[in-house]
Amino acid sequence: MIQHLQHPVFKIISATAGQQGVDAYAIGGFVRDIYLNRPSKDIDIVVLGNGIAFAEAVGKTLKVPVSVFKNFGTAMLKYQDLEIEFVGARKESYRSDSRKPIVENGTLEDDQKRRDFTINALAIALHPSRYGQLIDPFGGIQDIESKLIRTPLDPAETFSDDPLRIMRAIRFASQLIFTIDDAALEGIKATAERIKIVSQERITDELNKIILSPKPSIGFKLLFDTGLLKLIFPLMQDLYGVEIINGKGHKDNFYHTLEVLDNISQTTDDLWLRWSAILHDIAKPATKRFEPGHGWTFHGHEDRGARMVPKIFAQLKLPLNEKMKLVQKLVQLHLRPIVLSQETITDSAVRRLLFEAGDDIESLMLLCKADITTKKRVQNKKVPQ
Ligand code: CTP
Repeated sequence: MIQHLQHPVFKIISATAGQQGVDAYAIGGFVRDIYLNRPSKDIDIVVLGNGIAFAEAVGKTLKVPVSVFKNFGTAMLKYQDLEIEFVGARKESYRSDSRKPIVENGTLEDDQKRRDFTINALAIALHPSRYGQLIDPFGGIQDIESKLIRTPLDPAETFSDDPLRIMRAIRFASQLIFTIDDAALEGIKATAERIKIVSQERITDELNKIILSPKPSIGFKLLFDTGLLKLIFPLMQDLYGVEIINGKGHKDNFYHTLEVLDNISQTTDDLWLRWSAILHDIAKPATKRFEPGHGWTFHGHEDRGARMVPKIFAQLKLPLNEKMKLVQKLVQLHLRPIVLSQETITDSAVRRLLFEAGDDIESLMLLCKADITTKKRVQNKKVPQ
């Protein structure tokens, strides 16, 4: 463990803990990321005492300013490439939107058990007498090895402490390709409705992290199966399902969209291209018609979808800037290259498309390639109520 504490800042925090006679621990995401081999620049330090006074002492030694957030009982400093946050051990939950004054003077274990997941409750001692010792009371290391998202307490308690954690569970599962343990999954389903009290910005932040994960369909399937998707993004839920008339069905647009999203995610880490995959067929439910003798059609879904983009972005509190315009353009044009390839190509049609796509022609081609999904799936799963 000590080899992961090579940065000189840890020695200084350790010396301060020794001088002040208080215990200090690196905790949370930083420790988790050591075991996941994902070096992290954000370090949380928990102090069994006054976190702000401790931070000020460290800041003085390092000769850097300390930002104090009195209401939150936290203090932050930047040193070289690191951002370090200090807090006194808490008896209360680490809510992501805590406005309540925090209750300090907890023990380390009080602090650890009020955290969201066992993998985020690991601590490393920094006091000189125990420097580098790992404290893992809830089996977080075992859960990292088993790739498991589990809550330290009864899931009902952990999730009702902060309902954003139901999104975080799914985000970590998707980001790290971990499984959510059965009890936690039941806890998510039981608490899903409470997501309504969480701000849209925080929900969208987690949603974007799901979208940026290596295989985003993992997260979206969990959102769907737990009943969260219909609460946070009902238009996407509406893509789900297959209608059959006269023995003719159409493809399930939800699973098709997830395939397109996974496909594009193999070629780009750009959040907005991934959003264009999510939204490319968003107007299919609204434009769906059954034409006797012909079958299912979705005429004009690309135009209607493009018109829906600004409202969707506004509702989800995504930026209403050129990123939104890019997504709108890609949704609008997503059928054009395929149509071109199926018709006799005229120079003027190619020129028109190149003109309309402009600098985004490469992005459009990525979306079109991702949109070629061969398997047609008919899913008969029950829609969560
Ligand atoms: N935490 C929590 N409940 C929350 C948010 C955070 O218990 N709703 C705790 C966890 O111990 C977490 C730590 O606070 O590890 C730091 O939170 P944050 O910086 O938001 O997340 P990380 O776990 O560091 O992960 P990431 O940086 O990927 O968001």
